[in-house]
Amino acid sequence: MYFKPLLNILITPVEYAFDFFRAFSWSKASPFCPKQKQLHYDILLLAHTVEKGLSVSKPREGFGRVKILNLLHFLSLYQDDWSRFPLEKSYGCLKSYLDWNTSKGVELGDFGDKIYAFLQRCEQLGLEPKGGVKHISNSSLQNNPAAQAFLKARFSSRRFQPDKVDPDILSEIVEIARRSPSQCNRQSGRIHYYSRFEDIDRLLRLQGGAEEFRESVPNLFVISSEISAWSGFKARSQAYVDGALLAMQILNACQSLGLGACPLNLAVSNYKELKICEAGGISKGERLIMMIAFGFPEPTGLVVARSERMCTADLLTCH
Ligand SMILES: Cc1cc2nc3c(=O)[nH]c(=O)nc-3n(C[C@H](O)[C@H](O)[C@H](O)COP(=O)(O)O)c2cc1C
Repeated sequence: MYFKPLLNILITPVEYAFDFFRAFSWSKASPFCPKQKQLHYDILLLAHTVEKGLSVSKPREGFGRVKILNLLHFLSLYQDDWSRFPLEKSYGCLKSYLDWNTSKGVELGDFGDKIYAFLQRCEQLGLEPKGGVKHISNSSLQNNPAAQAFLKARFSSRRFQPDKVDPDILSEIVEIARRSPSQCNRQSGRIHYYSRFEDIDRLLRLQGGAEEFRESVPNLFVISSEISAWSGFKARSQAYVDGALLAMQILNACQSLGLGACPLNLAVSNYKELKICEAGGISKGERLIMMIAFGFPEPTGLVVARSERMCTADLLTCH
């Protein structure tokens, strides 16, 4: 009776050792991590510090010099055939930085020339600037009862019609999911979509938590997070934080588009997780966060688990 729970605890250090081995092999600091991937994330993080600096109420004139010099160095090593996004983002951030300093009459000298040379490289490549600051209308922050009602009404659905979602709906889900927040906007989360019965069946058998409705799941996401977006002991759980936020946004996106969805746990051993990666054609450099079964709900008389919540007083501690 006590043997199984005890065994489970005793196995835990072994799994942590595997976690360490996977972090060591795939993290941004790993000698095995491809150089361009390291640069991809290093550039995204540093470019974001520039736009963050510009978004505070009183940016310091000429702020961020050391970080920007570092960013320019990384950009000089970065190959634009890897992914254009880090270049586009840096283009927008550094352009805004130059414009802001010019508007304040700040003389940046050689440092400004280096930034300008990078902006010219982007222009020659025909890139679009995708960073900096944006202006938000205050009306978007008004009390919105319809949004509150929508958020309170989300539920997990385990009964679906057999239809696959069409590509327009799929891309709308991803369009909404793109707006998920992520640490330093590094966007480590990834979405894998499956619609073939044999793929879904294989993946759900490995997952094991949807046995009663596995055969009726018409669409399936596997949400993951790239290990290479992270480095260092402090970030050891951050792949899960970013991945879980992405998954939550997807659940809301599904319901907003009239789809039913059910999150499915991936509380599995490293061995099982790697088997799921193999079955789903997912890189072993991604940690798996959860699966999401989804589809059109039954047209009438939908029944879902009530899943009552504890009261707000138990949830909230005001300090
Ligand atoms: C990370 C996570 C894993 C879950 N795994 C399963 C699962 O394996 N099988 C299942 O039927 N439901 C699963 N659920 C759904 C929960 O049971 C459900 O979210 C919870 O009861 C709250 O109900 P609601 O989603 O309807 O609000 C999971 C939910 C989360 C957040």
